[in-house]
Amino acid sequence: MREALLKVFRGEKDNGEYVTYKVPIEEGMVVLDAIHYIQAMYDPNLAVRWNCKAAKCGSCSAEVNGRPSLMCKSRMDKFVDGEEITVQPIKSFPHVKDLVSDVSWNYRANEKIPAFTPAPDADWTFYQEDIDRVQEFRKCIECFLCQDVCHVIRDHDRKDFLGPRFMVRSAGLDMHPLDTVERAKFLKEEGGIGLCNITKCCTEVCPESIHITDNAIIPLKERVVDEFYDPIAKFLKSVFGNKK
Ligand code: SF4
Ligand code: SF4
Ligand code: FES
Repeated sequence: MREALLKVFRGEKDNGEYVTYKVPIEEGMVVLDAIHYIQAMYDPNLAVRWNCKAAKCGSCSAEVNGRPSLMCKSRMDKFVDGEEITVQPIKSFPHVKDLVSDVSWNYRANEKIPAFTPAPDADWTFYQEDIDRVQEFRKCIECFLCQDVCHVIRDHDRKDFLGPRFMVRSAGLDMHPLDTVERAKFLKEEGGIGLCNITKCCTEVCPESIHITDNAIIPLKERVVDEFYDPIAKFLKSVFGNKK
């Protein structure tokens, strides 16, 4: 039977070491299965967060061979026989234990975003094409892999930047046909959107294939430019309204 060597980070609050485990590979196996094998056969105390095992709950985020990934979506058959596979917790947030990081900062960032606000007398009939535009953003499973990979948060620890996940959420609200809130000022001053230099690393790791940079961040940046740096666009908007 084929075997893999899993080098798993073990320890608490950043103090720890990599421990290597030998795991037999079965057909269809994913990295999360291998972690469960380690829990069952070697150490039930290995801490790991997961829930759905179907790439839908966003819980099992980790770094597999250095790449932010869902463990339940990382197939073992993509590794060559005997290859050592490194599994470590996502790095951009405080470490708790083994493969678990504390991602609660993200929930506090989320709370800052001005809520969806339809007009009191809104006509709730709208076109499918308007909904198609924001539908993509609703696919987010809050795995925070994009937050983990973003160098603004990861390397520069700029927690004054909301991060790609919350640019996606802001875009979903801002582009909703019935929303009335203007978020450009918020995104510029509190969201730190200017810190994003559109490297697209966030888009590359998104397991839901959301076009984070092209469809969310760049249009939001354009709104900020229109509002603060383009007097003609601002004038036209003041005459014709319609932020959508
Ligand atoms: S495109 Fe922007 S949000 Fe995405 S990883 Fe790069 S800097 Fe971060
Ligand atoms: S945008 Fe993609 S990578 Fe970011 S949290 Fe949502 S699903 Fe995960
Ligand atoms: S266990 Fe739910 S996304 Fe992996």
